[in-house]
Amino acid sequence: MGDLRDPWIADEAGRRGRQRIMSLPYDIEALTQDVALIVRRASDDLARVEAIKPLLARWMPRCEGLRPEHREPCDGRACGHLLHSAADGSFFIISVVFPPGTSSGVHYHGSWGVIGTLAGVDEETKYVRPDGPAAVAVGQSCELTKTDVLRLPPGGVTHLLPPAEGFHRVRAVGDQAGVSLHILGGSPDSHPHFLCDSAARRLVDFPMRLLLDRAPMTGG
Ligand SMILES: [Fe+2]
Repeated sequence: MGDLRDPWIADEAGRRGRQRIMSLPYDIEALTQDVALIVRRASDDLARVEAIKPLLARWMPRCEGLRPEHREPCDGRACGHLLHSAADGSFFIISVVFPPGTSSGVHYHGSWGVIGTLAGVDEETKYVRPDGPAAVAVGQSCELTKTDVLRLPPGGVTHLLPPAEGFHRVRAVGDQAGVSLHILGGSPDSHPHFLCDSAARRLVDFPMRLLLDRAPMTGG
């Protein structure tokens, strides 16, 4: 082995080390265990999200352990599939499938999240609510300002960091279904999830549990 004090050799060794790690088996069980460790140890949501992103990036190329049915819509409509829910209620993992052209509608997540696209192309539109109470709740106005639009092909990763980065809309813009993995704070029963009712321009409850497995998401 060369002298690791030489910057070029050290860089090359680092690159090969990363390649070796990326080529090792890394299934959804291993990803889940690593996420659990980070969720326990991270000092805040930003640190948690940033530490989870490289783990998701390592898992996404092969999606080991993701069953074929986790890539399928529910009766032809968008929905999510629950893959894991931590016993202590600290995080859960779902796959989400949007048939081509379908959308989540504009909604709010009240807990952190990391999302990676596995297939198709998801377009994420991010929003902020410049006016109104800092604490986001059902019944409040959802007059929002668009801040960004991200095009997320397979391998693309985005995050949720409420309250500032909690509003978004996801839409499958390619000609195939958008399939993504979501690692989210809380549990399917505790993760705050509110829909921006397009007619009333008010936030309504949008329980995550009701969106999982066989239940359709709303369009919009
Ligand atoms: Fe969402």
